[in-house]
Amino acid sequence: MGKVLVTGGAGYIGSTLVRLLLEKGYQVRVLDRLFFGIDSLEEIKDKIEIIKGDIRDARKEVFEDIDTVMDLAAISNDPSGELDKQKTLDINYLGRCRVAHLAKLAGVKRYILASSCSIYGFQEGELTEKSKVNPLTTYAEANYLVENAVLPLGDKDFCVTALRQATVFGFSYRMRFDLVVNGMTGSYFKLGYFNLLRDGTQWRPHIHVKDTARAFITVMEADVDKVNREIFNVGSNDFNIQILELGEKISKGIGKPFEFAWYGDPDKRSYRVSFDKINRALGFETKHTIEEAAIEIWNRLEDKTLDWNDPKTRTVNWYDTLIDWNLRIKYIQRDGEIL
Ligand SMILES: NC(=O)c1ccc[n+]([C@@H]2O[C@H](COP(=O)([O-])OP(=O)(O)OC[C@H]3O[C@@H](n4cnc5c(N)ncnc54)[C@H](O)[C@@H]3O)[C@@H](O)[C@H]2O)c1
Repeated sequence: MGKVLVTGGAGYIGSTLVRLLLEKGYQVRVLDRLFFGIDSLEEIKDKIEIIKGDIRDARKEVFEDIDTVMDLAAISNDPSGELDKQKTLDINYLGRCRVAHLAKLAGVKRYILASSCSIYGFQEGELTEKSKVNPLTTYAEANYLVENAVLPLGDKDFCVTALRQATVFGFSYRMRFDLVVNGMTGSYFKLGYFNLLRDGTQWRPHIHVKDTARAFITVMEADVDKVNREIFNVGSNDFNIQILELGEKISKGIGKPFEFAWYGDPDKRSYRVSFDKINRALGFETKHTIEEAAIEIWNRLEDKTLDWNDPKTRTVNWYDTLIDWNLRIKYIQRDGEIL
C-alpha cells in the first residue's frame, strides 16, 4: 500500500476522502492551509500526517515518499472565487501547477486534479469530456487553465488525471451548507419548507461526497494506460436533476411534505453532463442517493452533531470574514494598535 498526499485534506471532500484512504489501508499526508480549521480531522489526527501549509509555497520535502498526490486544495466555489480574483488564480491555477510540477520532480507516480463540471458553463445538450468548455467565472477559468497546464505533464513515469466533479452533496466533517442539496435540507429543517430558485426546471449534475471520494481512489488504482492524461466527468447520469425534482427527493428522504416558496428571477442557467466515460473505462458507478444524504443531514441537525448556524459552513461568507480579518490585522500592524 502506498502513501497519498491529499492537498485540501481538511476540506469538505478531503476529510471524507482521507478517511476512505485510511479504511483501505493507505498512509496519508495532508497539506492544508486549514482555512476552516482542523476539527474535520480531529478524530483521525493520530493516524495521519498533517502539514499546515499553503500550496503556493509548498516545498519539495512535502512530496518525499509520496506515491500519489490528490490535489484538492482550492478556493472551492464560484462566489468565493470572485472575492479576490487574483488570489483565486494564484491558488487554483498557479498553486496547483506548482504542486503538480514539484510532485513530478520529486518522483511521485500519480497526480489527480480535483476539477469541476462548472468548467462547461451553461450549455444545451448532454456535455461530454470532448464538449467545448465555457468557463464563466474566475473559479471555472482557473480549473480550465490548470487542467491545460498539468495534463501535458503526464508521461510514462508520471500519470496525470483530471476529475471534473459534479456538485457534491452529503454530510462531511467540514460541512458545507452552500451546496444545493445540503442547503435545501438545512433550510427545510430551519423553516419547514424549501426556498427554491425560480423556476425549478434548471438541470444540474450531482454526486454524493462518499462517491466522489471513491472516484479518486478508483482512478489511483486503475491501470495507468486507462487514466494517464485523461479527463473524467465524475457523477452519474441518473443524478442530472432539476431543482424541483431535487426538492421532491429530499422531502422523500426526510419523510416530510414537499412544501416550497419561490425566490429570485427565473434561473436560465442549466446544464446536463454525461458520465459514460468513467463508467465505461473504469466501471465506476455511484452508490449513494440524495434521499440517504438528506436524512443523514436532518438527523445530525436534530442531534446537534451539525450546526446550521456554523459560519464556516458557508464558504463564501467564511472567506469574506477571513479577508476582513486579514485587512484588519494589516491595519492594526500599520497603526501599531490593537482593535
Ligand atoms: N464540493 C463540490 O461540490 C465540488 C465540486 C466540484 C469540484 N470541487 C473541487 O474539489 C476540491 C475540494 O472541494 P471542497 O468542497 O472539499 O472544498 P473545501 O473548501 O471544503 O476544501 C478546500 C480545502 O483547501 C484548503 N485550501 C484552500 N486554499 C489553500 C491553499 N492555498 N493552500 C493549502 N490549502 C488550501 C482549505 O483550507 C480547505 O480545507 C476543490 O478543488 C473544489 O474546487 C468541489
